[in-house]
Amino acid sequence: MSDKQHSIIGAGVPRIDGPDKLAGRANYAADNLPPNLAYGYGVFSTIASGKVSQLSVDEARRMPGVIDIFHHGHFPSLYRTPSSFVQGNKVEETRLPFEDERVYYEGQFVALVVADSFENARAAARRVKVTYSADQAVANLDQGVEANGTRAGSGNHSRGDAPGAFEDAAASIDVTYRTPVETHNPMEMHASVAYWDAQGNLTIYDASQGVVVERNALSKIFAIPPERITVHAPYIGSGFGSKLWTWPHAIATAAVSRELGRPVQLVVPRQQMFTTTGHRPETRQRMRLATDGNGKLVSLRHEAINTTSFTDQYVETCGSVTKSLYSCPNLTVSHETTQVNRGTPTSMRAPGAAPGLFALESAIDEMALAAGVDPLQFRLDNYAERDESLDLDFSSNHIVEATKRAAETFGWADRNPEIGSMREGREIVGYGMAACNWEALKRPCDARVSIRADGTVFASCATQDIGTGTYTIVAQAVSDVTGIALDRITVKLGDSSYPEGPISGGSWATATTLPAIAGAARKALDELKRYATGGNGIFAGAHADDLSVVDGALRYDGKQASFTEVLDAARYGSADGEAHTEAADSKYSYRSFGAHFVEVRWDPGISHLRVSRVVSAIDVGKVINATTARNQVEGAVVMGVGMGLFEATEYDTRNGRPVNNDYAEYVVPVHADQPEIDVILLDYPDLAFNEYGARGIGEIGITGLAAAIGNAVHHATGKRIRELPITLDKLM
Ligand code: MOS
Repeated sequence: MSDKQHSIIGAGVPRIDGPDKLAGRANYAADNLPPNLAYGYGVFSTIASGKVSQLSVDEARRMPGVIDIFHHGHFPSLYRTPSSFVQGNKVEETRLPFEDERVYYEGQFVALVVADSFENARAAARRVKVTYSADQAVANLDQGVEANGTRAGSGNHSRGDAPGAFEDAAASIDVTYRTPVETHNPMEMHASVAYWDAQGNLTIYDASQGVVVERNALSKIFAIPPERITVHAPYIGSGFGSKLWTWPHAIATAAVSRELGRPVQLVVPRQQMFTTTGHRPETRQRMRLATDGNGKLVSLRHEAINTTSFTDQYVETCGSVTKSLYSCPNLTVSHETTQVNRGTPTSMRAPGAAPGLFALESAIDEMALAAGVDPLQFRLDNYAERDESLDLDFSSNHIVEATKRAAETFGWADRNPEIGSMREGREIVGYGMAACNWEALKRPCDARVSIRADGTVFASCATQDIGTGTYTIVAQAVSDVTGIALDRITVKLGDSSYPEGPISGGSWATATTLPAIAGAARKALDELKRYATGGNGIFAGAHADDLSVVDGALRYDGKQASFTEVLDAARYGSADGEAHTEAADSKYSYRSFGAHFVEVRWDPGISHLRVSRVVSAIDVGKVINATTARNQVEGAVVMGVGMGLFEATEYDTRNGRPVNNDYAEYVVPVHADQPEIDVILLDYPDLAFNEYGARGIGEIGITGLAAAIGNAVHHATGKRIRELPITLDKLM
């Protein structure tokens, strides 16, 4: 491989799907309008707990364009909803739509109107009369614990004697943090378009981060073989986890489409994206930390409770990072859940770690202050050198360098540790920092690559590009192996009929997909070499192993033939390769590392707080695309600012109803809230993990950011805010 070819890996190549998106040629789920399309619109419960006592559709049925109205008692019978991650058919809300009259959360589907237009369906939905018999709703975590207690969760860990070491320690803290429900707000709303052909094959376009898993789940629910279902998701208008698994609207859309014998489209209204498509649950986390006389951690306990629904147990593994980030011989991590009347929670960017590191990295700051050590130095003194929870070495860990480089770029040395001591004009400047961390996963994957006689290459994999740049990095990998230029490479993703690829989640798509793509490309080249050296091949009689690949051509004995010439001579239309790659081994603990440094500015005169500057140094192994990788960290930092200062879905404590369930009232950062963001990518290949040494970068950037903000706010104001978001009322 020449250096020129290899340099495509790491290059900041612009997204190859960008022009299609800009020109409106990229079709999202709801852009698919098959002939004879009917439109669904939901009727959503207006109580959070109880049951539907009466449902009258008479008036609604008489509305213009109405085709049918479905509800419990008039809905096709379905099989059970599966939920197996291992089998690849996981569904987060396992209750089937309209299964019974029960209402478990506000915004649950209680009826589905299908009409000849979106407007007619919506108008009729408003005429469906529902009366409820309401029970007292469990509205939040405290009410859940009070009413129903807790259930044991998963992901727990214990080593040494944390309580004993706590008692004997030189310094200690015992503090509790809280994080609210956060709701995914991708630009593209959840939407499904489903139709069945005469042979009973289902096609569904869905806003999905996992077309294969959705196909497998629908296969169970409809009791038809997976090969008779095709799930399409070629473009996703962002997915932060809410599009990972199949939600009731998609199941209902497929079911009523079969019942009506025509295509049906259903778009989930923005308000119901706060209820029926998952959220990051509320957490309460008690942190007990203790140090010896030298400022070394000797005891660490992280006990988390998160809210879940009455239908499913979702565990937010807040202590997932706590187990291994710091060296500590006596440590326990425990997770419990409590049931509340909300929809089933789900993964949201860095599930577990995002709320968990708010607690851990705030508590580490508090512990450093209690021990009398600079918070940066405290971390450097206590970072783990190996994974003590798994008793394994890290495959590659550059957190010390990341922390030091970010500190130097940020100017941490200029920090006056005295609270409120750094002023600029009317503003008090606060400096805070936190570590960030995320697991690195690589799943099994299949891929196919075809080198075609027209000089192009076609690569396919049933993974998705959720806006992060997967199309582009797949093309980079193909170009890297074949030497074919990017503009002659076609990448097809987001179709469950392609070779099985991973969900776009867990920050594992890059590490999982690229080795399979590269393997398939090499197999295609092997086939091409066989053609070149075979009977009427262009290098007939030569040994395939003696041929080299240079810039989209084969070279042998000083002669060069383009792929097209090779294929034309052998009279084949293409040379094809398929590859299967396995999940990562368990020889090492594979994780990504980093550190955030944050500057906040607090104007006490007008009670204004802003995040003005962020420096993040991230160690995710090899960076495949410098532009899209940087974008991921920048986006995660912005989302972390939202988590730190703004985002919370509020529920009425009297009845469990969400009250700020729209884009106007659910506050996310806007342009005016953006800090200067400086991203340092360390770029050390982790070759024990995969051939590219790449670990994935989607989630790590949000972890720790809210804690770094909180730590900076404490430095500026002296106030330790232990409950997100850090709103002004908490500072006055
Ligand atoms: Mo991510 S929460 O795995 O989409």
